[in-house]
Amino acid sequence: MKVNDQLKIYAEMTEAALEKYLPAAKTPFAASDTLIEAMRYSLIGGGKRIRAALCLEFCRLCGGDPEAALPFACAIEMAHAYSLIHDDLPCMDDDDMRRGKPSCHVAYGEATAVLAGDALQSLAFETASSADLPADRVAAALKTFSACIGCAGMCGGQAMDLDAESVPSDEATLIETSRKKTGAMIVAASKLGCIAAGAEVNQIYSAEKYASALGLSFQMIDDVLDVESTAAELGKPIGSDEKSGKTTFVSLFGVEETMKKASLLTESAKAALSIFGNDAKFLKDLADYLYSRRS
Ligand code: IPE
Ligand code: IPE
Ligand code: MG
Ligand code: MG
Ligand code: MG
Repeated sequence: MKVNDQLKIYAEMTEAALEKYLPAAKTPFAASDTLIEAMRYSLIGGGKRIRAALCLEFCRLCGGDPEAALPFACAIEMAHAYSLIHDDLPCMDDDDMRRGKPSCHVAYGEATAVLAGDALQSLAFETASSADLPADRVAAALKTFSACIGCAGMCGGQAMDLDAESVPSDEATLIETSRKKTGAMIVAASKLGCIAAGAEVNQIYSAEKYASALGLSFQMIDDVLDVESTAAELGKPIGSDEKSGKTTFVSLFGVEETMKKASLLTESAKAALSIFGNDAKFLKDLADYLYSRRS
């Protein structure tokens, strides 16, 4: 099966499950209804859903039923949507478009956008903890998930990223920033899939190596697309990094050198899956697909 077709299947599974987990906006309190609407606006019907796909596929690859990992896949996409809402706020990247429509704060106002992000994060933990799996797996997943989102992961990386607007970063700092702000969630998605399946330690280790290389390459390509793509293709503004004077892989190395680095990382991501043999075809194709992506 082509990578696109499998991605579509996983995206549809995720979308249907997300609908199920999102509370219905039918309380008598108008303000909290607006909050739920804003959560829905940013969560449903958009995005490539690659984090969900990683989670579901690693579960399958490690011998589990992808359905069993759905609460974890949804939790990751909820946390990702929260990170994007906050990332677009005027106090952060100040971007007014996301996934082809006005950013959450443009559509609902800043205060509601902050709360929608907060509430999506809580919903993510509620959803992950509701997984119908052995308690030790759920506990292990929650531990990995929280560590990857917090100050040692995505939030910490976002803080470093903002710092790089006022003080130019060097390569080592930029790599650490990207591993945290973007890589950590991609690693979490992959590891949670393994955990859902009750994977062996060596399988989890391989997943982590793959996702870590993939996550760094993913941010490099994101930086390239910010200068090479169009807003129509990307669904978000281009030139955002330059506007804020951010150090990125492109500002440090230029497009060509950044693509070379991303290519090497893509190859090492694929090599990390050798223990899975031919069964890892989708994940290897996914790494190539993300390297060549246009959005
Ligand atoms: C965008 O992530 C933010 C980064 C970590 C670079 P994606 O490119 O996965 O965004 P969606 O989910 O497809 O919109
Ligand atoms: C964002 O990186 C990473 C997050 C944790 C959301 P970017 O700021 O480069 O992501 P985009 O380009 O706005 O999607
Ligand atoms: Mg940002
Ligand atoms: Mg941004
Ligand atoms: Mg970007």
